[in-house]
Amino acid sequence: MADPRKTLVQFDRRSLLKGMAGCVLAPAVLRAGPARAQYRKFPFSLGISSGDPAPDGFVIWTRLAPEPLAEDGGMGSDAAEVTWQVAADQNMQRVVRSGTATAHAESAHSIHVEVGGLEPGRDYFYRFRTSTADSAIGRSRTLPMPGAPLSEIRFASAGCQRWQDGYYTVWRRIAEEQFDFVFHYGDYIYEDPTFKAERRGDFLQRSMPADFGECVSLADYRLRYSLYKTDRDLQAAHASCGFLSSFDDHEVANDWSADVQANAWLDTPFLPRKAAAFQAWYEHMPVRASVKPRGPDILAYRSFKFGNLAEVAVLDTRQYRSHPACKSFENCEQARAPERTMLGLAQEQWLTDTLGASQGTWQVLAQQINFAQLDWRSFPNRNQRDLQLRMDSWDGAPAGRNRVLDILRKTSAQNPIVLSGDVHRAIAFEISSDPNDLLGTPMAVEFLSTSISSGGNGSLVSRNGDAIVRDNPHIKWLSSERGYTRHLVKPKTWHADYRAVASITKRDAPIVTRQSFVVEAGKSGLVRA
Ligand SMILES: [Fe+2]
Repeated sequence: MADPRKTLVQFDRRSLLKGMAGCVLAPAVLRAGPARAQYRKFPFSLGISSGDPAPDGFVIWTRLAPEPLAEDGGMGSDAAEVTWQVAADQNMQRVVRSGTATAHAESAHSIHVEVGGLEPGRDYFYRFRTSTADSAIGRSRTLPMPGAPLSEIRFASAGCQRWQDGYYTVWRRIAEEQFDFVFHYGDYIYEDPTFKAERRGDFLQRSMPADFGECVSLADYRLRYSLYKTDRDLQAAHASCGFLSSFDDHEVANDWSADVQANAWLDTPFLPRKAAAFQAWYEHMPVRASVKPRGPDILAYRSFKFGNLAEVAVLDTRQYRSHPACKSFENCEQARAPERTMLGLAQEQWLTDTLGASQGTWQVLAQQINFAQLDWRSFPNRNQRDLQLRMDSWDGAPAGRNRVLDILRKTSAQNPIVLSGDVHRAIAFEISSDPNDLLGTPMAVEFLSTSISSGGNGSLVSRNGDAIVRDNPHIKWLSSERGYTRHLVKPKTWHADYRAVASITKRDAPIVTRQSFVVEAGKSGLVRA
């Protein structure tokens, strides 16, 4: 049974029940205890999700939270049981797997079920149930057997979803696509506090609760995920297909590197903060127990084999990277030191082994940050005369980038595709095989996805866009709208559509394709389609 006194204290702290001081609040759980939990309010308020597929199954996730913005989700400290079902049909008539799972307070009453025993390469449907409520029904898809013939994959890459910057219309449009999967490149939450200054212009969309400060403690991070996950459009996207989840900086702290936080103004020890951030990330993502953090460490790089079509390596560019060589745009000589890395030596070796054993036509580096060199001198707010490289991206470790290109050469990766985000713009790059010549023969392409919401309403034509492309002739497309990148992968072609909405300050904006590219297998260049 939840402790009513504790629940009341939490509500007071969060100012969620102004004017109710003195009332004794009933806990959200009427009768707790395994198998008997009953709820006053809908316990699946944070939705459901699935991800990390294998040929025989995938992870299904939910978190019991009848009071999503209470610190304990309204669950108190007792464990609670839920049942789950996986069916072959969307009406849940032909249930093929089912079971019971226990949600514990130590993991915020989250549930991660690793479903097995399913057939490869097909859709399934799933839901969770308590004695008083059914969750929504989600769709998910198993991987084909490694090396098995596969004619097509359709997926989206997306990320950067700052809550207070606008509505999640882009997630609604992704849900409508019924993709095979979504690669989330990170910035699922933003750790920063509510700022009064942002309540104007493009940034007056929806606000966080007034007392949401900078995330530091586990309770802070949990509440941030809870807030974000109450969004119906985001829930619809998760229910529509499985996710390959990763994290970038804002799941922890802006621009963090390995064991240091960049923003020294927040005087808090970083490792406990990172441990709290990873714990909350794990609790809210549909990932396997092998990804469960151990204190401030988490093993989040992993690879997925899509038959004979693609190897999708989800990388971790945060945890093992070199400390910043200098301030973000300083372009110091130290940044070019040969030992600098974004992946760390162990992950570089893992990538070598993974791509070496790949049976897929396309080798996909699914990662968080801008990979190709990017000169920022003409970007709005920079306006500099000389080369401006951003140290938080791969330009902060060009030697590490060259080693990744060497891995692609060494493993005979024929068709490398780099996925990225972080910049809150849509950019398509060709990546030259010669680091000293941006216009040399391309050996890979990079599809950098724009943000779901971060940055507020953008514009189709980037300010200073012509100058930016002049400084970066390997850029083949640049836009500042919100959206996602849609990928249609076939044995002979990779087709990418830059999808965008004109507004996120008004709900329900339509989505349009702004630009399409094709990469032909065996030729690593971008062709406008
Ligand atoms: Fe971001």
